[in-house]
Amino acid sequence: MSNKGLILWFTGLSGSGKSTLASYLTPILMERGAKVEVLDGDEVRTNLSKGLGFSKEDRDTNIRRIGYVANLLARNGVCSITAAISPYANVRDEIRGWAENFVEVYVECPLEVLEERDTKGLYRKARAGEIKNFTGISDPYEAPLNAEVVVSTHDSSIEESAQVVLDYLAGAGLIDG
Ligand code: ADX
Repeated sequence: MSNKGLILWFTGLSGSGKSTLASYLTPILMERGAKVEVLDGDEVRTNLSKGLGFSKEDRDTNIRRIGYVANLLARNGVCSITAAISPYANVRDEIRGWAENFVEVYVECPLEVLEERDTKGLYRKARAGEIKNFTGISDPYEAPLNAEVVVSTHDSSIEESAQVVLDYLAGAGLIDG
């Protein structure tokens, strides 16, 4: 068996742990011989999606751009890991339809926990009305109903969450087990 090109699509609220998990998994997948690229929401917004805001239209454009690049890479044997909130189910499903191997990972964490942590201080600002249309507070988040993998970052360690993803990928024949 050999590693296959795939899109590992993380979705979840801001601060849920998408980027952390993507960074943690990258060297592990590389050690197993996979070619890996990460398309991180915050990073993409500083280059590929510079100038886009957080309206539904702009978010959809952002997500389609990420999906487009992720799919180009996946077609060439790369494990593309994406880490954007990607709040709308229909756009996620649209991208699923483009890709041969699409693995949706719901990075789940209760809003109360995220607000309590508030590592970037954005939830407080959103509650105070200083940031409009903030996902989970004043803008929708449509949780996946049929994600291939669900990880609960509030009650699992990063190692445990990563292992759940790796077990799925190995079980599906997408990485060397
Ligand atoms: S997405 O909705 O288009 O997928 P993306 O993952 O790129 O979002 O960006 C989310 C990050 O932008 C958040 O982690 C947060 O740091 C920042 N951000 C700024 N404004 C908002 C907002 N209104 N809603 C959500 N995140 C925001």
